[in-house]
Amino acid sequence: MARRPLVMGNWKLNGSKAFTKTLINELNTELAGVEGCDVAIAPPVMYLAEAEAALAGGKIALGAQNVDLNKQGAFTGDISVDMLKDFGAKYIIIGHSERRQYHNESDEFIAKKFGVLKQAGLVPVLCIGESEAENEAGKTEAVCARQIDAVINTLGVDAFNGAVIAYEPIWAIGTGKSATPAQAQAVHAFIRAHIAQKSQAVADQVIIQYGGSVNDGNAAELFTQPDIDGALVGGASLKAPAFAVIVKAAAQAKN
Ligand code: PGA
Repeated sequence: MARRPLVMGNWKLNGSKAFTKTLINELNTELAGVEGCDVAIAPPVMYLAEAEAALAGGKIALGAQNVDLNKQGAFTGDISVDMLKDFGAKYIIIGHSERRQYHNESDEFIAKKFGVLKQAGLVPVLCIGESEAENEAGKTEAVCARQIDAVINTLGVDAFNGAVIAYEPIWAIGTGKSATPAQAQAVHAFIRAHIAQKSQAVADQVIIQYGGSVNDGNAAELFTQPDIDGALVGGASLKAPAFAVIVKAAAQAKN
């Protein structure tokens, strides 16, 4: 089954009002003629208004880097699904390893966020992946299975219909040391087969992005792999020419 690739930029804690407008304007120009790939960016929520305005009428979708469980009320500092929808955000990253690590987010808490997003009609981009120590101990598949099962056990496998998984080995994030295409493919195939144990149809359609030091030099080769359906891009998403090369590589490899 043909899956439409998704390349998404995760800006993390970077940017300003001016940066947001400038980068999006550059991306709109660079990507004007590109077909066959879904594209999204997740700026800091502070800049969703600037991003929404700059993206209007273009082909790039808006995303965000996190969401909280509660819809409204006395939850100081939190951001709700309805607030994200108010700005037209569609793809919402949850379970990023930086949030798992620095904010102690558990598999169960992230599964709840997944449910809140699905209920709101938003697309969860569920980040999973093992640490360097887990990788060296041969635990990559066990870690990925556990992180996926947290969602399946609470919401059922159908929750992955229309959802996105980003396989991001922690040792590859921001290190310049991407997984090799073969390494990534092996884990992506495992993830898809793991979901297929519950539902082949769900496994066939779920988008599995690779993330971790994807750049304009290594993207094309990663996208030659059959189970790599796009990328979640950190550092290289902050430069329009590099991000555009990655999007074009996905469009070319998958069509
Ligand atoms: P990186 O980050 O591309 O800078 O390695 C990827 C991510 O954390 O999503």
